[in-house]
Amino acid sequence: MKNYTSIQDIDNINSWIEEAKALKASPLKHLALGANKTIGLLFFNSSLRTRLSTQKAALNLGMNPIVMNVSGDAWGIEFEDGSVMNGGTAEHIKEAAAVVSQYCDIIAVRAFPTLTDKPKDESEQVINSFIKHASVPIVSMESATGHPLQALTDAVTISEFSKVAKPKVVLTWAPHVKALPHAVANSFTQAMQKMDVEFVITHPEGYDLNPEITRDSPIIYNQDEAFANADFIYAKNWSSYSNYGKILNSDLDWMVSAEKMKLTNNAKFMHCLPVRRNLVVSDAVLDSENSLVIQQANNRTFAAQTVLKKILENL
Ligand code: CP
Repeated sequence: MKNYTSIQDIDNINSWIEEAKALKASPLKHLALGANKTIGLLFFNSSLRTRLSTQKAALNLGMNPIVMNVSGDAWGIEFEDGSVMNGGTAEHIKEAAAVVSQYCDIIAVRAFPTLTDKPKDESEQVINSFIKHASVPIVSMESATGHPLQALTDAVTISEFSKVAKPKVVLTWAPHVKALPHAVANSFTQAMQKMDVEFVITHPEGYDLNPEITRDSPIIYNQDEAFANADFIYAKNWSSYSNYGKILNSDLDWMVSAEKMKLTNNAKFMHCLPVRRNLVVSDAVLDSENSLVIQQANNRTFAAQTVLKKILENL
């Protein structure tokens, strides 16, 4: 594997899950693999988990991580080919990616969508420009349309905590005050489609995700109905896809509450974090023993370590 920018880069999700579990059991077993190798983590947007867990994963493999907040600290990067750079950008991605490739053996990039320009977001301009102009492997730490490191983490967590052979997993939209990307929901959907689970998506009307991603996954517009007999509830807000980037609904009845969780099969609660308490999910659910959010965040390290190990083995 050269790049990891989509959940579709996973050939066999069950073997990747087992590899992540093995790395979790012995995190330092492959310390020699990344010796004298450098990973550059480039952040165009904020992060807590991705930033720290990807560094931790690299350190567990003996790599040297270097980190940059590109938006705040670097020169403004131009991504348009042939542009006359007389505006706010100071260097082109052609030079920037080539230069960083000389310092790093792997480049990881986080770049969120505009949520105003759908074609631009769907073109994945930032991550694809790095793939085009860098000479080293590229890892997505969340792009405009996907968060594949998070989705691999979620698959590992569901595998760890599932008590039945084929659990019912519900991805539920939840309210939020800000317009948020579709990336986590998209990649989670794609991961669940690769796993042996009964997968259901629930959200208010107007919040359908890209149909090219949801494909034949069932969509239920009644959250109570969707929650029935669920083994895992995965909450996430996203803005409208059809009315691109807009907030159409802020109905607090969609918040995941203790009452809603009673409709489930004593389901585990998951969220990628950060999460807004008593808006997306109530304190009672987040503080309950059924909440997996902390264990889920811990697995970010081992999902990232799985990805980096596979890339290092291919260098
Ligand atoms: N879940 C996740 O990606 O967290 P951060 O945005 O803090 O990295």
